[in-house]
Amino acid sequence: MKKGDKSNFSRRLFLKQSGILGAGIVAAGTNNSLYGFNKGDSTIPAVLGGTPVHKTGWTKWPIWDSSTDEELVLKVLRSGVWSRAKVVSEFERAWAEKIGTKRCLAVVNGTNALICALVNMGIGAGDEVIVPPYTFIGTIVPVLQVGAIPVFVDTDPATFQIDPDKIEEKITSRTKAILPVHILGLPADMLKIMDIAKKHNLLVLEDDCQAHLAEINHKKMGTFGYAGCFSFQNSKNMPIGEAGAIVSDDEHFMDKCYSYHNYGNPYGSLVGEVGAGTLLAGTKMRLTEYQAAIGLAQMKRIEEQAQTREKNAARLTSQIKEIPGIIPVKLSPGVTRAVYHLYPFRYNKEKFHNLSRSLFLKALSAEGVHCSRGYSQMNKMPYLNDAFTSKNYKKMYNPEDLDINLFNERNECPKNDKLCLEEAVWLSQWELLGPSSDMDDIAKAIEKIYKNAEKIKKEISI
Ligand SMILES: Cc1ncc(COP(=O)(O)O)c(C=O)c1O
Repeated sequence: MKKGDKSNFSRRLFLKQSGILGAGIVAAGTNNSLYGFNKGDSTIPAVLGGTPVHKTGWTKWPIWDSSTDEELVLKVLRSGVWSRAKVVSEFERAWAEKIGTKRCLAVVNGTNALICALVNMGIGAGDEVIVPPYTFIGTIVPVLQVGAIPVFVDTDPATFQIDPDKIEEKITSRTKAILPVHILGLPADMLKIMDIAKKHNLLVLEDDCQAHLAEINHKKMGTFGYAGCFSFQNSKNMPIGEAGAIVSDDEHFMDKCYSYHNYGNPYGSLVGEVGAGTLLAGTKMRLTEYQAAIGLAQMKRIEEQAQTREKNAARLTSQIKEIPGIIPVKLSPGVTRAVYHLYPFRYNKEKFHNLSRSLFLKALSAEGVHCSRGYSQMNKMPYLNDAFTSKNYKKMYNPEDLDINLFNERNECPKNDKLCLEEAVWLSQWELLGPSSDMDDIAKAIEKIYKNAEKIKKEISI
């Protein structure tokens, strides 16, 4: 969508999107009469048939500028050079400069960026990698892909990030790395994490997939650990569609990553003649030229967008923090910029007459606010047992290491369970790109639900 475009709002459309036209909830219209509400009364919750607070739609995502961006892509198309060449290299130089690292390697996506980094950091069978449970599957899959075991450390519900004070108790003689994730675009406590890593001689690989331009002490995420990995998937604050990148200051490591992403062919300090013999057991993860062209175009606007999100997030926080039962996120120490890939807060149903989170979300959607409950518990999903019962894992580990019941016991994360199952509420990054009046609408919608929580609970049961 072109810059500044907003979606056309239609009441029927938002009802459809928020699932309110489904059976059961349609009955809300009938219930109106129970309270004698007048149709169109703005104080009636929209979920009970009232007028929604937000009627003007949202900024559409992704944003591009036809007058400049389309030409960049067409230029690549017309050149006939579509496989990795000059534009990808230009994108890598520009991203390294933006983040503040010596090098950047562009790859197909964030998941493969993490795989490439882990392999070339020497992490594999028999190793443990410390990870948060409050993340996307794309953080954990790479650990399993390289044959290592993820070890989950509970979440600090106040920050939504890995709790740094619980990391040390999970370190064993097998721990090789910490993989902190700056989830939701909010930096994890890198100051404490780096101290712990140093003390225990562990490598740190940052999952920066949601944290483009986020900072602690004016230093960007991706520059704290040994290496960092980004995603440029469509929903990300820097969207390309699908793409990823590894950043690091270690030139030899980056040469190895380059080689690995290009079939293991010689590159840089991995001396050899291309075509005369492949050096590493690599794979192919190369970005295309037209993806890099989109990336270069997007890079021009991410700073301004980050500023808008920051400003709007601050406005929204200042308003919703006054509503009982709404707990805004706390930023980690030293954060000088959070980039809000998602805007989270915690919901305490007790302050809302025990209105369940799902009903709260339904009521908020009805007010025209896009919202969701966020992540499920990454430490408790069937994919872990699937890996542990695989032929490869059985060859690499003792049965005790792969006992899923023991694993579950060791990887309990009760705070994370509560956050996932009861408390978390998310808004999307593009909701923070509109005018400040959009923030006022979100706050008003939440307040409206707060004031009407008892009524909503009585009228709708799901
Ligand atoms: C925290 C996190 N890690 C890893 C990934 C994987 O990135 P990709 O989808 O580009 O493979 C994502 C992206 O969705 C992510 O949000």
